[in-house]
Amino acid sequence: MSDFAFMRFMSNNMLTTEESQHKDEIVNLTEQVLDAKGLECDERISKLSEEKLREILEEVRKLRNRRRKRIDDKAEEDEGSAKKEVLYVRNVYADQKNLNFVVDDILNSNLKENEFDYIFDRGCFHVLLPANRQRYITKIKQILKDSGTLFLKCFSNKEPRQEGPYKFSQVEIRDLFSKYFRIDSIKETVYQGTLDPLPKALFAVMIKN
Ligand SMILES: C[S@@+](CC[C@H](N)C(=O)[O-])C[C@H]1O[C@@H](n2cnc3c(N)ncnc32)[C@H](O)[C@@H]1O
Repeated sequence: MSDFAFMRFMSNNMLTTEESQHKDEIVNLTEQVLDAKGLECDERISKLSEEKLREILEEVRKLRNRRRKRIDDKAEEDEGSAKKEVLYVRNVYADQKNLNFVVDDILNSNLKENEFDYIFDRGCFHVLLPANRQRYITKIKQILKDSGTLFLKCFSNKEPRQEGPYKFSQVEIRDLFSKYFRIDSIKETVYQGTLDPLPKALFAVMIKN
């Protein structure tokens, strides 16, 4: 464990506030840097000179920047492919009136406030990082009309598979949403798709307060 290195970074005031708040990520990257250098991630770290420690931290920062750039590039690529899909489905449904397809990031939504009577989310909320859940709820509330309804489908904590999106209990959904929504119902169901057996899911119907 390179907690030792992290503690030394901290005690030497080497980390920015932002870095010190991302301990797990910094520890994980430090382990990779130390591994690549053939150094053990143990208490021997306490004997390294401050200069050597600074060198290691610089490499950790470079690795972190490279990783973040890859994530940003992937997000751009995903947005590009979502835009192509929208062009495709617009074409398929070109003869349908009152139907539109747009690409939007719900966490930074460009959709108008109080625009929708209904929002149906199948599988978006449950992939968001926990840190983004409140932002999601605020945005959904913002774009729903007063008394509008959110239909939310997400994986249930009764689903035994470890991998996949986050899983929720009915109580968690209530705790997260009930400040801004009246919970009409939450039902145990399954997530239709290609997995066999179908994953256990929740279907919640929630009305904006
Ligand atoms: C598990 S997939 C579900 C896809 C599809 N709705 C389904 O049920 O098969 C999660 C979807 O959430 C979308 N997503 C993730 N973060 C998002 C965000 N911030 N704004 C909008 N969509 C997002 C992803 O692009 C992806 O299409």
